[in-house]
Amino acid sequence: MHLTEQERAWLAGESGPALRRAMEIIVALGQIYGADRLLPVQSVQISGVSYRNLGEAGLEFLQQWLAEGARVRVPTMLNPAALDLHAWQAQGFDPHFAARQQAVIEIFRRMGVGEGDPQPTCTPYLIGVTPSLGEHVAWAESSAVSYANSVLGARTNREGGPGAIAAALTGRTADYGMHRDEARRATLRVRVTAQLRGPADYSALGAIVGKRSGKRVPYFEGLPLTRGEPLWEAKLKALGAALAATGAVALYHVADVTPEACAGPVLAEAYESITISDITPGYARFSSERKQIDLVWIGCPHAAPDEIARVADAVRGKTLRVPLWITCARPVKAWAEEQGAAATLEAAGGRIFADACMAIAPLRSLGFDTVATVSAKGAFYLQNLAGVATHLGDLSRCVNAALTGHWV
Ligand code: F3S
Repeated sequence: MHLTEQERAWLAGESGPALRRAMEIIVALGQIYGADRLLPVQSVQISGVSYRNLGEAGLEFLQQWLAEGARVRVPTMLNPAALDLHAWQAQGFDPHFAARQQAVIEIFRRMGVGEGDPQPTCTPYLIGVTPSLGEHVAWAESSAVSYANSVLGARTNREGGPGAIAAALTGRTADYGMHRDEARRATLRVRVTAQLRGPADYSALGAIVGKRSGKRVPYFEGLPLTRGEPLWEAKLKALGAALAATGAVALYHVADVTPEACAGPVLAEAYESITISDITPGYARFSSERKQIDLVWIGCPHAAPDEIARVADAVRGKTLRVPLWITCARPVKAWAEEQGAAATLEAAGGRIFADACMAIAPLRSLGFDTVATVSAKGAFYLQNLAGVATHLGDLSRCVNAALTGHWV
């Protein structure tokens, strides 16, 4: 692998153990995947932030890297934590867990993440980190990776936890996979004839196609979507998140919508074609027998302002029987507070929480056994990580569940 003089010096430990460790990780990844050089990256998103997943061993690993002198070199964001860093008491977390989660965040803060003010989110592109077409970045969270590659046309593999930290410290990633033109060609052509309305329908579609895609790049035709229409980004965000969760899709193209599909042909020479005429199996996959709902969760991936406004409109003047929580980035929460949407939600019995992802939170110990959501990705991880029963439905169905406490 060709390394620049500076990269070789970092690898030799001439700038300290933190950079040497980072270079060893990046070079090892490059060798595994056949890269012949490293690329500079403009931004990094680090995953593996939840204390529930990291535990004491993960915390120690991070502490050691920090003690070796780890400092980020490019703009770096954090994936969500298990809780709202400022309002965890309202979520019911115990102080010990909250303190350990805060300790994780403090390590990243001291590394320089978020310029010293980490604002954990899986939607960095909603708070000003929007890489442009062809720009190389090193992001980690699967829905953010999908959005960066597909909707923005940037280039990133799905970085693992240590790989993303290594990229942040060096400003480099290995040149393989999604960074290269040949991996970005579509090998699954998806004709969609099913009726699609709101973002939840796109999520259900993503759950069906993700399973069929595996690691392939899908190319969608027939989506009733135009750039700039209301909620178009929310729909693509939902589609990409579900594709990534139920398959391993890091990039998809949509005819006449996503930038690479608008720029020219994206289909590979050889591809398979499928038609999706019904999205109900995508919903059914995440529906449990248990009809009593304990929590309604919206904001997976983290909610955008237009999505929060839509929920506030739906609950305005009503009284919820079970909690409805929206998760979003901290600046988006601030927007909701300024605009009155947060007050509308709270008057009904809902809450907005920043920084947090409910799929990586210890939900059962918070007293939630069945959760309704509009997100197939959310439902997938609620089942597989949080170990709770789920229901997947559109916004009106989820709001109805919050109003009645039942799934109908
Ligand atoms: Fe984000 Fe958690 Fe969903 S990281 S995409 S809210 S599973």
